[in-house]
Amino acid sequence: MTYTATQENPAQRSHNIKIHTPQDFDGMRAAGQLAAQCLDMIAQHVAPGVTTQRIDDLAREFVLDHGALPACVGYRGYRHTVCTSINHVICHGIPSPKTLKNGDIVNIDVTVIVDGWHGDTSRMYYAGEPKVKARRLCDVTFDCLWKGIEQVKPGNTLRDIGNAIQKYAENEGFSVVRDFCGHGLGRVFHDAPNVVHYGEYRDKFKEIHRAPDTVLEPGMFFTIEPMINHGKPEGKMLKDNWTAVTKDKSLSAQFEHSLAVTQTGYEIFTLSPKKLDKPPFSLSTE
Ligand code: MF3
Ligand code: CO
Ligand code: CO
Repeated sequence: MTYTATQENPAQRSHNIKIHTPQDFDGMRAAGQLAAQCLDMIAQHVAPGVTTQRIDDLAREFVLDHGALPACVGYRGYRHTVCTSINHVICHGIPSPKTLKNGDIVNIDVTVIVDGWHGDTSRMYYAGEPKVKARRLCDVTFDCLWKGIEQVKPGNTLRDIGNAIQKYAENEGFSVVRDFCGHGLGRVFHDAPNVVHYGEYRDKFKEIHRAPDTVLEPGMFFTIEPMINHGKPEGKMLKDNWTAVTKDKSLSAQFEHSLAVTQTGYEIFTLSPKKLDKPPFSLSTE
């Protein structure tokens, strides 16, 4: 996701939101489907005792075997195919030799490049059997993503997306992360617009921050990727300069889809072909 305060790739990133052609949709369908298939493949491997490095290796091999590129490798110095954000990690957790423990919840986020097009998606996974509280956070976060998606249609605004997510999350007693947001994508990984997951909030200086009222138009491509915290919204960055964790150490969850605005609503590029969009994944041993 994009850092809200700064602009990534200032050279590549355009100020205006691109409007894409029907051929561009085909490019995004291929990229989105491969990213989703990669997350489907991972579902059977997430379990207590497995390292996040192993998951990263599996994802990299999968992407390369399918003739695609892992977009995160080399991105701003990042060296891995996926981000693996466990429990109180908000996002950008780095794969490591540490093993998953029974009850962990982990977000796995992958971005692939197929023929120059970016497919960016993430889901939560359960290692063993997480507590009810952790499962509820994942359920609510999944529903937050969908509350946002349901607002996507021509004439609605980016603020409608943020409002819907914030309202649902806060009504469930959770908070919306403000430090990271969704983003335009296509041939560029992180493009305009910023897609914030709140409608409005007041910061500690009592200053009001409002989501932009940018009107959605057919042909826009962007991600929605809400990060929802069990406790307070504030995060902090670890010394590795990647891993963002909740300041109060409360659990955090996230789901992400890449999608387009269409004439009548939306098209999601990263739906799971195996219907493994949301845990628990009861996996048949075929
Ligand atoms: N996939 C993330 C996103 O949703 C970006 C990760 S960038 C990385 O935008 F370098 F940390 F991998
Ligand atoms: Co993203
Ligand atoms: Co992502």
